[in-house]
Amino acid sequence: MRKNIVAGNWKMNNDLAQTQELIADLKKQISAAPAATVMIAPTYTNLYPAFEALKNTPVIVAAQNMHQNASGAFTGEISAAMLKSVGVETVILGHSERRAYFKESNELLAEKVNTALENDMTVIFCFGEELEDRKADKHFDLVESQLKESLYHLSKESWKNIILAYEPVWAIGTGETASPEQAQEMHAFIRKSITDAYGSEIAEEVSILYGGSVKPANAKEIFAKEDVDGGLIGGASLKAEDFLAIVNAF
Ligand code: PGA
Repeated sequence: MRKNIVAGNWKMNNDLAQTQELIADLKKQISAAPAATVMIAPTYTNLYPAFEALKNTPVIVAAQNMHQNASGAFTGEISAAMLKSVGVETVILGHSERRAYFKESNELLAEKVNTALENDMTVIFCFGEELEDRKADKHFDLVESQLKESLYHLSKESWKNIILAYEPVWAIGTGETASPEQAQEMHAFIRKSITDAYGSEIAEEVSILYGGSVKPANAKEIFAKEDVDGGLIGGASLKAEDFLAIVNAF
């Protein structure tokens, strides 16, 4: 059975004290057995304190990005081994902000995915169309090419460590959410595409999260859809109460 997952992407928010405060709030309010697997992705400098503070809790700490190379002259970058050395075994790759502002291509992301998997990490792989793609009715093709170019070279075995996050760019941080029907339509398309490429056993097991303006008020309806297995949450993950209300929407 595929897992339900709610992951908070904190982006470039929260210094050390704010991170500790938000984690303390989460620990106070989270139930011992949450309705979904819960993950948070603080910024690099706060990964280790987050990992330490969340030991013996159900919350998994993830990174927001990672470099594809193992080490060397890549000023400002962070490797898989560095993440693992501070307890982080899950990494978000391909977020639309990385694609847009840091020019990360499908090809580069394939390399990053390979590196993460070689290091036995779990990848939350983000992808999704821009508004123009949807208006031009190209959203299905665009999404399928993102998957093909970054993931479809993987072995069947590797898919155990892949979590997908469909995030239509027009819904991120805009307050505009895809309707539950639009999310379901795309998630069903994604699962069908994986079925065609790898067979239904793999496709049925992969968790496909939806991301883009998920809030306590709309999470239940979105998560109720058959092919939506959780959410990648930006803005609403910065308040413990809202984030846990989303977790409890399952
Ligand atoms: P949002 O961000 O929930 O603030 O729209 C989602 C994301 O970027 O992962």
